[in-house]
Amino acid sequence: MNIDVFTLFPDAFTWFRSQRHVANAMQQGHALECVDPRATTPLRWGQVDDTPFGGGAGMVLRVDVMEAALRARYGVDPVELPRRRRVIALTPAGRQLDDALASELAGEEELTLLCGRYEGFDERILERFCSEQLSIGRYVLAGGELAAMVTCDAVLRKLPGVLGKDASAVEESFSPALGGAPEYPHYTRPADWRGWPVPDVLLSGHHENVRRWRLEQSRLRAGDPLP
Ligand code: ADE
Repeated sequence: MNIDVFTLFPDAFTWFRSQRHVANAMQQGHALECVDPRATTPLRWGQVDDTPFGGGAGMVLRVDVMEAALRARYGVDPVELPRRRRVIALTPAGRQLDDALASELAGEEELTLLCGRYEGFDERILERFCSEQLSIGRYVLAGGELAAMVTCDAVLRKLPGVLGKDASAVEESFSPALGGAPEYPHYTRPADWRGWPVPDVLLSGHHENVRRWRLEQSRLRAGDPLP
């Protein structure tokens, strides 16, 4: 899978790329590349944004700047792009990321993520160059970079062999394997700490009982309001 992230702050991804599962994905031939629209801006002084028509606070990413960046990267008029690949703008009002969407995106060969900054994107970027908008929650971040990292994290860990143990991405919170419910509780040594014991069934060595207990716990959690 090849993911291109268009961002004015490519350095923000240095830490993320160094994470074990992301590095694993790269080693397996997947790619996560940052593209800085400032590098191809047609404007003098490296300008990339402007004040909004009609007034108001903040700055808006310019459509001509984003067009130049997409054109330079893909060699086509970016209005063609949404037919060829998913071009996803990160916005607070987009479709909310969940496990099903992460799985869907993990099935793509190519992804393009556009990070907004300041007040966001000129609307024509969203209308003409993007296939969709994605939100990581109903709150406003200062930019799309953290949202892009959250999205890449949720997607990359679904790729076969990226996590240490493949099974760990199968039976986890909100996955089809658990019927979309939150994951069951986990415990490790010590078996008793300050009189707080680990449930007996987990120490029993009885795999079928463990499996049933876990499913039951997962279902109970689905009904519980989370703390
Ligand atoms: N950009 C700013 N806020 C965002 C959010 N909540 N999700 C995705 N992108 C964003």
